[in-house]
Amino acid sequence: MPASAAPDLAASRAPSLAVADLVVQRREGPGPARLILDHVSLAVAPGTVVGIAGPSGAGKTTLLHVIAGLLRPDGGSVHWDGGELGALSEAARDRWRRDNVGLVFQDFQLLPELSVIENILLPIRFDHWGTPRAKRDGAALLAARVGLDQRTARAGSLSRGEQQRLAIARALMRRPRLILADEPTASLDAENGARIGDLLIECARENEASLLLVSHDEALLARAAQRYRLADGKLLGERTR
Ligand SMILES: Nc1ncnc2c1ncn2[C@@H]1O[C@H](COP(=O)(O)OP(=O)(O)OP(=O)(O)O)[C@@H](O)[C@H]1O
Ligand SMILES: [Mg+2]
Repeated sequence: MPASAAPDLAASRAPSLAVADLVVQRREGPGPARLILDHVSLAVAPGTVVGIAGPSGAGKTTLLHVIAGLLRPDGGSVHWDGGELGALSEAARDRWRRDNVGLVFQDFQLLPELSVIENILLPIRFDHWGTPRAKRDGAALLAARVGLDQRTARAGSLSRGEQQRLAIARALMRRPRLILADEPTASLDAENGARIGDLLIECARENEASLLLVSHDEALLARAAQRYRLADGKLLGERTR
């Protein structure tokens, strides 16, 4: 095999994401079901930063939750690394998510009684008996990278912006290959928002991860290689640079 084939081979080992024809319906009360995602398709190569904007209620969080395997779609598929998520059992899907996905939830989903460091360590809770020193050091480093120095503080005592940064540190703890970030800078000032944008993009680059950013933050969206707008359940208007 020629030596020049090696980099391509290495690149092809990173998993890619393919979303095809997703349909999600929601029923509230006795009325007819509402179409929230209307045949949404999206292909994301390894290491790509994708930005998704769109009005409130457009289905952005719903889309991320389907991609993360937290919500079963009514139609369509999500493929990761060539395998279909919908074909996995619930337990296998939970394992897949734990091993591959870093999720920054719009409402953070922190455990308020646990400390900053304990929250960052949550994703590795099932990997080890006890917490290895290297993991604690890794968690402390992540806390520093998001600018949190109150490591023993209860998560519930933090400001909203601090909680958002903690949620991001936790999502990055396992060096995920797929980072799904739902409004990751919504509670941050411009300076902290830019810093968090840098961190997410750096971490994606370090791990050749795909990064999906749902955001209203124009400065953050401008850094995405692929940009979309979700409106009325349809993913529109790709702008690629
Ligand atoms: N569990 C649910 N049951 C019924 N409807 C729901 C449920 N979750 C979300 N919806 C509806 O689905 C639609 C899309 O919601 P979603 O949270 O995905 O929007 P979004 O684009 O993330 O909005 P925002 O920018 O405000 O976060 C909304 O109309 C919402 O009311
Ligand atoms: Mg949302």
